[in-house]
Amino acid sequence: EKGGYEHFMLKEIFEQPKSIHDTMRGRLLVDEGVIKMAGIWDHVEKFKNANRIIIIACGTSWHAGLIGEYLIEEYARIPVEVEYASEFRYRNPIITDKDVVIAISQSGETADTMAALKLAKEKGAFIYGICNVVDSSIARITDAGSYTHAGPEIGVASTKAFTAQLTILTLIAFKLGKHNGTLDNTSFMSLIAELDLIPKKIEEVLSTTHELVKNISKDFVKSTNFLYLGRGYNYPAALEGALKLKEISYIHAEGYPAAEMKHGPIALIDENMPIVIIAPKKGHYDKIVSNVQEIKARKGKLIAVVNKGDQQVSEMADYVIEIPETSECFSPILASVPLQLLAYYIAVYRGANVDQPRNLAKSVTVE
Ligand code: M6R
Repeated sequence: EKGGYEHFMLKEIFEQPKSIHDTMRGRLLVDEGVIKMAGIWDHVEKFKNANRIIIIACGTSWHAGLIGEYLIEEYARIPVEVEYASEFRYRNPIITDKDVVIAISQSGETADTMAALKLAKEKGAFIYGICNVVDSSIARITDAGSYTHAGPEIGVASTKAFTAQLTILTLIAFKLGKHNGTLDNTSFMSLIAELDLIPKKIEEVLSTTHELVKNISKDFVKSTNFLYLGRGYNYPAALEGALKLKEISYIHAEGYPAAEMKHGPIALIDENMPIVIIAPKKGHYDKIVSNVQEIKARKGKLIAVVNKGDQQVSEMADYVIEIPETSECFSPILASVPLQLLAYYIAVYRGANVDQPRNLAKSVTVE
Protein backbone atom coordinates (compact mmCIF):
# COMPACT_ATOMS: atom_id res chain seq x y z
CA GLU A 1 0.00 0.00 0.00
CA LYS A 2 3.07 2.23 0.14
CA GLY A 3 3.23 1.88 -3.61
CA GLY A 4 6.88 0.87 -3.63
CA TYR A 5 7.99 3.74 -1.40
CA GLU A 6 9.77 3.08 1.85
CA HIS A 7 7.41 5.26 3.86
CA PHE A 8 3.97 6.76 3.47
CA MET A 9 5.50 10.19 3.90
CA LEU A 10 7.68 9.80 0.81
CA LYS A 11 4.78 8.39 -1.16
CA GLU A 12 2.62 11.33 -0.10
CA ILE A 13 5.32 13.86 -1.03
CA PHE A 14 5.45 12.30 -4.49
CA GLU A 15 1.67 12.29 -4.80
CA GLN A 16 1.49 16.07 -4.72
CA PRO A 17 1.24 16.70 -8.46
CA LYS A 18 -1.82 14.45 -8.42
CA SER A 19 -3.33 15.62 -5.13
CA ILE A 20 -3.16 19.26 -6.21
CA HIS A 21 -4.56 18.38 -9.59
CA ASP A 22 -7.40 16.48 -7.91
CA THR A 23 -8.08 19.43 -5.61
CA MET A 24 -8.46 21.73 -8.62
CA ARG A 25 -10.41 19.28 -10.77
CA GLY A 26 -13.90 20.53 -11.60
CA ARG A 27 -13.12 23.81 -9.83
CA LEU A 28 -10.48 25.48 -11.93
CA LEU A 29 -11.80 25.84 -15.46
CA VAL A 30 -9.00 27.72 -17.15
CA ASP A 31 -10.42 27.78 -20.66
CA GLU A 32 -13.69 29.25 -19.47
CA GLY A 33 -11.91 31.62 -17.12
CA VAL A 34 -13.97 30.38 -14.20
CA ILE A 35 -13.45 29.05 -10.69
CA LYS A 36 -16.37 26.91 -9.57
CA MET A 37 -16.81 26.46 -5.84
CA ALA A 38 -20.36 25.92 -4.72
CA GLY A 39 -19.54 26.32 -1.03
CA ILE A 40 -18.20 29.81 -1.65
CA TRP A 41 -20.61 30.83 -4.36
CA ASP A 42 -23.72 29.95 -2.36
CA HIS A 43 -22.57 32.31 0.39
CA VAL A 44 -20.52 34.78 -1.58
CA GLU A 45 -22.27 37.85 -0.15
CA LYS A 46 -21.53 36.65 3.37
CA PHE A 47 -17.85 36.59 2.50
CA LYS A 48 -17.96 39.86 0.62
CA ASN A 49 -19.70 41.69 3.44
CA ALA A 50 -17.85 40.04 6.28
CA ASN A 51 -16.29 42.37 8.84
CA ARG A 52 -13.38 40.00 8.73
CA ILE A 53 -12.49 36.40 8.10
CA ILE A 54 -10.98 34.51 11.01
CA ILE A 55 -9.01 31.41 10.13
CA ILE A 56 -8.56 28.88 12.93
CA ALA A 57 -6.42 25.77 12.83
CA CYS A 58 -3.52 23.94 14.49
CA GLY A 59 -0.06 22.88 13.36
CA THR A 60 0.50 22.60 9.65
CA SER A 61 -3.07 23.64 8.90
CA TRP A 62 -2.40 26.85 10.83
CA HIS A 63 0.60 27.51 8.58
CA ALA A 64 -1.66 27.06 5.56
CA GLY A 65 -4.00 29.57 7.23
CA LEU A 66 -1.22 32.16 7.43
CA ILE A 67 -0.67 31.86 3.69
CA GLY A 68 -4.45 32.06 3.27
CA GLU A 69 -4.34 35.42 5.04
CA TYR A 70 -1.81 36.77 2.57
CA LEU A 71 -3.83 35.43 -0.36
CA ILE A 72 -7.27 36.62 0.74
CA GLU A 73 -6.07 40.05 1.85
CA GLU A 74 -4.05 40.59 -1.31
CA TYR A 75 -6.61 39.42 -3.84
CA ALA A 76 -10.03 39.76 -2.19
CA ARG A 77 -9.16 42.67 0.12
CA ILE A 78 -11.14 41.24 3.04
CA PRO A 79 -9.42 41.58 6.45
CA VAL A 80 -8.20 38.24 7.73
CA GLU A 81 -6.94 37.08 11.09
CA VAL A 82 -5.35 33.72 11.72
CA GLU A 83 -5.41 32.15 15.12
CA TYR A 84 -4.43 28.94 16.83
CA ALA A 85 -7.70 27.20 17.66
CA SER A 86 -6.51 26.51 21.20
CA GLU A 87 -5.87 30.21 21.88
CA PHE A 88 -9.02 31.41 20.19
CA ARG A 89 -11.34 29.20 22.21
CA TYR A 90 -10.02 30.21 25.61
CA ARG A 91 -9.55 33.95 25.30
CA ASN A 92 -13.11 35.16 25.06
CA PRO A 93 -12.70 36.44 21.49
CA ILE A 94 -14.98 39.06 19.96
CA ILE A 95 -17.09 37.30 17.37
CA THR A 96 -20.27 38.52 15.76
CA ASP A 97 -22.67 37.42 13.08
CA LYS A 98 -20.71 39.63 10.67
CA ASP A 99 -17.69 37.38 10.97
CA VAL A 100 -16.83 34.44 8.78
CA VAL A 101 -14.76 31.76 10.49
CA ILE A 102 -12.82 29.31 8.35
CA ALA A 103 -11.48 26.17 10.01
CA ILE A 104 -8.69 24.30 8.27
CA SER A 105 -8.16 20.68 9.28
CA GLN A 106 -6.81 17.70 7.43
CA SER A 107 -8.46 15.16 9.73
CA GLY A 108 -11.54 17.20 10.50
CA GLU A 109 -11.30 15.78 14.04
CA THR A 110 -8.88 18.08 15.86
CA ALA A 111 -10.40 18.77 19.28
CA ASP A 112 -9.30 22.38 19.65
CA THR A 113 -10.38 23.32 16.14
CA MET A 114 -13.75 21.67 16.68
CA ALA A 115 -14.29 23.46 20.01
CA ALA A 116 -13.26 26.82 18.53
CA LEU A 117 -15.78 26.33 15.74
CA LYS A 118 -18.57 25.50 18.16
CA LEU A 119 -17.83 28.70 20.03
CA ALA A 120 -17.87 30.74 16.82
CA LYS A 121 -21.15 29.14 15.81
CA GLU A 122 -22.76 29.94 19.17
CA LYS A 123 -21.77 33.57 18.69
CA GLY A 124 -23.51 33.62 15.34
CA ALA A 125 -20.58 33.55 12.94
CA PHE A 126 -20.85 31.82 9.60
CA ILE A 127 -18.54 28.82 9.80
CA TYR A 128 -16.74 27.30 6.84
CA GLY A 129 -14.62 24.15 6.73
CA ILE A 130 -11.58 23.17 4.70
CA CYS A 131 -11.14 19.49 5.52
CA ASN A 132 -9.55 16.53 3.84
CA VAL A 133 -11.52 13.74 5.48
CA VAL A 134 -15.01 13.53 4.03
CA ASP A 135 -17.84 13.57 6.55
CA SER A 136 -15.48 14.27 9.46
CA SER A 137 -16.78 16.06 12.56
CA ILE A 138 -15.63 19.48 11.39
CA ALA A 139 -17.02 18.91 7.92
CA ARG A 140 -20.37 18.07 9.49
CA ILE A 141 -20.62 20.95 11.94
CA THR A 142 -19.75 23.71 9.45
CA ASP A 143 -22.37 25.70 7.49
CA ALA A 144 -20.49 25.11 4.25
CA GLY A 145 -17.04 24.12 3.07
CA SER A 146 -14.65 22.85 0.45
CA TYR A 147 -12.91 19.53 0.65
CA THR A 148 -9.27 19.21 -0.22
CA HIS A 149 -9.13 16.16 -2.43
CA ALA A 150 -5.68 15.08 -1.33
CA GLY A 151 -6.69 11.48 -0.65
CA PRO A 152 -5.88 9.67 2.60
CA GLU A 153 -2.82 11.04 4.37
CA ILE A 154 -1.26 8.33 6.53
CA GLY A 155 2.11 9.79 7.52
CA VAL A 156 1.79 11.79 10.73
CA ALA A 157 3.74 14.63 9.13
CA SER A 158 1.34 16.47 6.89
CA THR A 159 2.62 17.02 3.35
CA LYS A 160 0.11 16.61 0.54
CA ALA A 161 -2.74 17.83 2.74
CA PHE A 162 -0.82 21.08 3.30
CA THR A 163 -0.31 21.81 -0.39
CA ALA A 164 -3.94 20.87 -1.09
CA GLN A 165 -5.03 23.34 1.61
CA LEU A 166 -2.95 26.03 -0.10
CA THR A 167 -4.62 25.15 -3.39
CA ILE A 168 -8.10 25.58 -1.91
CA LEU A 169 -7.18 28.85 -0.20
CA THR A 170 -5.79 30.15 -3.50
CA LEU A 171 -8.99 29.24 -5.33
CA ILE A 172 -11.07 30.93 -2.62
CA ALA A 173 -8.96 34.10 -2.73
CA PHE A 174 -9.17 34.35 -6.52
CA LYS A 175 -12.88 33.54 -6.61
CA LEU A 176 -13.68 36.18 -3.98
CA GLY A 177 -11.29 38.65 -5.58
CA LYS A 178 -13.00 38.32 -8.93
CA HIS A 179 -16.44 38.67 -7.38
CA ASN A 180 -15.43 41.65 -5.26
CA GLY A 181 -13.81 43.38 -8.22
CA THR A 182 -10.52 43.59 -6.33
CA LEU A 183 -8.81 41.23 -8.79
CA ASP A 184 -9.08 42.51 -12.37
CA ASN A 185 -9.89 40.09 -15.12
CA THR A 186 -6.50 40.17 -16.83
CA SER A 187 -4.67 39.37 -13.61
CA PHE A 188 -7.26 36.73 -12.75
CA MET A 189 -6.76 35.02 -16.09
CA SER A 190 -3.01 34.98 -15.85
CA LEU A 191 -3.04 33.79 -12.24
CA ILE A 192 -5.36 30.88 -12.96
CA ALA A 193 -3.30 29.90 -16.00
CA GLU A 194 -0.24 29.82 -13.77
CA LEU A 195 -2.07 27.90 -11.02
CA ASP A 196 -2.99 25.30 -13.59
CA LEU A 197 0.73 24.70 -14.24
CA ILE A 198 1.59 24.06 -10.59
CA PRO A 199 1.15 20.24 -10.66
CA LYS A 200 3.60 20.08 -13.61
CA LYS A 201 6.04 22.35 -11.82
CA ILE A 202 5.89 20.16 -8.71
CA GLU A 203 6.67 17.16 -10.88
CA GLU A 204 9.68 19.05 -12.13
CA VAL A 205 10.75 19.97 -8.57
CA LEU A 206 10.46 16.33 -7.51
CA SER A 207 12.52 15.03 -10.38
CA THR A 208 15.22 17.70 -10.27
CA THR A 209 15.68 18.03 -6.50
CA HIS A 210 15.04 14.57 -5.06
CA GLU A 211 18.56 13.11 -5.35
CA LEU A 212 20.18 16.43 -4.60
CA VAL A 213 18.21 16.98 -1.38
CA LYS A 214 18.84 13.38 -0.37
CA ASN A 215 22.58 14.03 -0.64
CA ILE A 216 22.42 17.36 1.15
CA SER A 217 20.59 15.67 4.02
CA LYS A 218 23.57 13.44 4.78
CA ASP A 219 25.59 16.46 5.85
CA PHE A 220 23.07 17.44 8.51
CA VAL A 221 22.41 14.18 10.29
CA LYS A 222 24.33 15.34 13.34
CA SER A 223 22.96 18.87 13.49
CA THR A 224 21.22 19.90 16.67
CA ASN A 225 19.57 23.11 15.49
CA PHE A 226 18.18 24.60 12.30
CA LEU A 227 16.85 27.99 11.34
CA TYR A 228 14.35 28.42 8.49
CA LEU A 229 13.84 31.85 7.00
CA GLY A 230 11.53 33.35 4.42
CA ARG A 231 9.69 36.57 3.72
CA GLY A 232 6.16 37.37 2.60
CA TYR A 233 4.32 34.29 1.36
CA ASN A 234 7.38 32.21 2.18
CA TYR A 235 7.53 33.15 5.82
CA PRO A 236 4.80 30.62 6.70
CA ALA A 237 6.58 28.17 4.38
CA ALA A 238 9.65 28.60 6.59
CA LEU A 239 7.55 27.85 9.69
CA GLU A 240 6.22 24.75 8.01
CA GLY A 241 9.69 23.60 6.94
CA ALA A 242 10.88 23.90 10.53
CA LEU A 243 7.86 22.01 11.89
CA LYS A 244 8.45 19.17 9.44
CA LEU A 245 12.05 18.82 10.55
CA LYS A 246 11.37 18.93 14.27
CA GLU A 247 8.47 16.52 14.28
CA ILE A 248 10.13 13.71 12.36
CA SER A 249 13.88 14.15 12.93
CA TYR A 250 13.73 15.51 16.51
CA ILE A 251 16.20 18.24 15.58
CA HIS A 252 15.31 21.58 17.08
CA ALA A 253 14.26 23.94 14.32
CA GLU A 254 12.73 27.37 14.25
CA GLY A 255 11.10 29.28 11.45
CA TYR A 256 11.31 33.06 11.28
CA PRO A 257 10.45 35.89 8.96
CA ALA A 258 13.92 36.66 7.56
CA ALA A 259 13.88 40.27 8.70
CA GLU A 260 13.21 39.23 12.30
CA MET A 261 16.60 37.55 12.37
CA LYS A 262 18.31 40.70 13.55
CA HIS A 263 15.89 40.98 16.46
CA GLY A 264 17.31 37.95 18.22
CA PRO A 265 18.04 34.73 16.32
CA ILE A 266 21.12 36.24 14.64
CA ALA A 267 22.89 35.74 17.98
CA LEU A 268 22.67 31.98 17.36
CA ILE A 269 24.44 32.03 14.01
CA ASP A 270 27.90 30.52 13.76
CA GLU A 271 29.53 27.88 11.57
CA ASN A 272 27.48 25.16 13.23
CA MET A 273 24.10 26.67 12.48
CA PRO A 274 22.40 25.40 9.34
CA ILE A 275 20.03 27.95 7.87
CA VAL A 276 17.46 27.19 5.22
CA ILE A 277 16.43 30.30 3.32
CA ILE A 278 13.62 30.50 0.80
CA ALA A 279 14.63 33.10 -1.77
CA PRO A 280 12.65 33.06 -5.01
CA LYS A 281 13.13 35.95 -7.46
CA LYS A 282 9.60 37.25 -6.99
CA GLY A 283 9.10 38.34 -3.41
CA HIS A 284 11.45 40.72 -1.60
CA TYR A 285 14.51 39.21 -3.28
CA ASP A 286 16.81 42.18 -2.63
CA LYS A 287 15.92 42.16 1.03
CA ILE A 288 16.67 38.45 1.21
CA VAL A 289 20.06 39.06 -0.41
CA SER A 290 21.03 41.35 2.44
CA ASN A 291 19.79 38.81 5.02
CA VAL A 292 21.99 36.24 3.32
CA GLN A 293 24.99 38.57 3.52
CA GLU A 294 24.42 38.93 7.25
CA ILE A 295 24.29 35.16 7.64
CA LYS A 296 27.46 34.59 5.65
CA ALA A 297 29.33 37.25 7.60
CA ARG A 298 28.68 35.02 10.63
CA LYS A 299 29.65 31.84 8.77
CA GLY A 300 26.22 30.16 8.98
CA LYS A 301 25.79 27.07 6.78
CA LEU A 302 23.36 28.16 4.15
CA ILE A 303 20.92 26.00 2.23
CA ALA A 304 19.13 28.23 -0.27
CA VAL A 305 15.94 27.49 -2.16
CA VAL A 306 16.12 29.74 -5.22
CA ASN A 307 14.80 30.01 -8.75
CA LYS A 308 16.60 28.41 -11.64
CA GLY A 309 19.46 30.53 -12.87
CA ASP A 310 19.68 32.50 -9.63
CA GLN A 311 23.05 34.14 -9.03
CA GLN A 312 23.26 36.51 -6.10
CA VAL A 313 21.99 34.21 -3.35
CA SER A 314 23.42 31.08 -4.96
CA GLU A 315 26.95 32.49 -4.98
CA MET A 316 26.81 32.92 -1.22
CA ALA A 317 25.03 29.64 -0.40
CA ASP A 318 26.71 26.40 0.65
CA TYR A 319 23.92 24.35 -0.91
CA VAL A 320 21.59 25.46 -3.68
CA ILE A 321 18.19 23.93 -4.43
CA GLU A 322 16.53 25.28 -7.57
CA ILE A 323 12.80 25.48 -8.15
CA PRO A 324 11.00 26.85 -11.23
CA GLU A 325 9.79 30.44 -11.29
CA THR A 326 6.16 31.13 -10.52
CA SER A 327 3.97 33.95 -9.19
CA GLU A 328 4.90 34.91 -5.67
CA CYS A 329 1.66 33.59 -4.23
CA PHE A 330 2.34 30.04 -5.50
CA SER A 331 5.96 29.90 -4.46
CA PRO A 332 5.27 28.39 -1.02
CA ILE A 333 3.71 25.38 -2.76
CA LEU A 334 6.85 24.77 -4.81
CA ALA A 335 9.30 25.67 -2.03
CA SER A 336 7.63 23.31 0.45
CA VAL A 337 8.46 20.23 -1.61
CA PRO A 338 12.27 20.23 -1.19
CA LEU A 339 11.80 21.19 2.48
CA GLN A 340 9.59 18.13 2.98
CA LEU A 341 12.26 15.99 1.32
CA LEU A 342 14.99 17.54 3.45
CA ALA A 343 13.12 16.78 6.68
CA TYR A 344 12.30 13.30 5.42
CA TYR A 345 15.86 12.29 4.52
CA ILE A 346 17.48 13.81 7.59
CA ALA A 347 15.01 11.82 9.71
CA VAL A 348 15.59 8.63 7.71
CA TYR A 349 19.36 8.94 8.06
CA ARG A 350 18.94 9.44 11.79
CA GLY A 351 17.00 6.20 11.93
CA ALA A 352 13.78 7.86 13.08
CA ASN A 353 10.33 6.39 12.64
CA VAL A 354 9.28 8.80 9.93
CA ASP A 355 5.64 7.81 9.54
CA GLN A 356 4.96 7.59 13.24
CA PRO A 357 7.18 9.98 15.15
CA ARG A 358 7.38 9.58 18.91
CA ASN A 359 4.74 11.29 21.05
CA LEU A 360 2.60 12.29 18.07
CA ALA A 361 -0.75 11.11 16.74
CA LYS A 362 -2.17 11.71 13.29
CA SER A 363 -5.17 13.46 14.67
CA VAL A 364 -5.19 15.21 18.00
CA THR A 365 -8.61 14.47 19.38
CA VAL A 366 -7.85 15.54 22.93
CA GLU A 367 -6.98 19.10 23.84
O1 M6R B 1 -5.94 17.30 11.16
P1 M6R B 1 -5.50 18.71 11.39
O2 M6R B 1 -5.12 19.42 10.13
O3 M6R B 1 -6.52 19.50 12.16
O4 M6R B 1 -4.21 18.60 12.28
C1 M6R B 1 -3.57 19.73 12.79
C2 M6R B 1 -2.22 19.38 13.35
O5 M6R B 1 -2.33 18.46 14.40
C3 M6R B 1 -1.30 18.80 12.28
O6 M6R B 1 -1.15 19.64 11.18
C4 M6R B 1 0.09 18.50 12.85
O7 M6R B 1 0.75 19.69 13.19
C5 M6R B 1 0.91 17.66 11.87
N1 M6R B 1 1.51 16.54 12.51
C6 M6R B 1 1.95 18.47 11.14
O8 M6R B 1 2.69 17.70 10.26
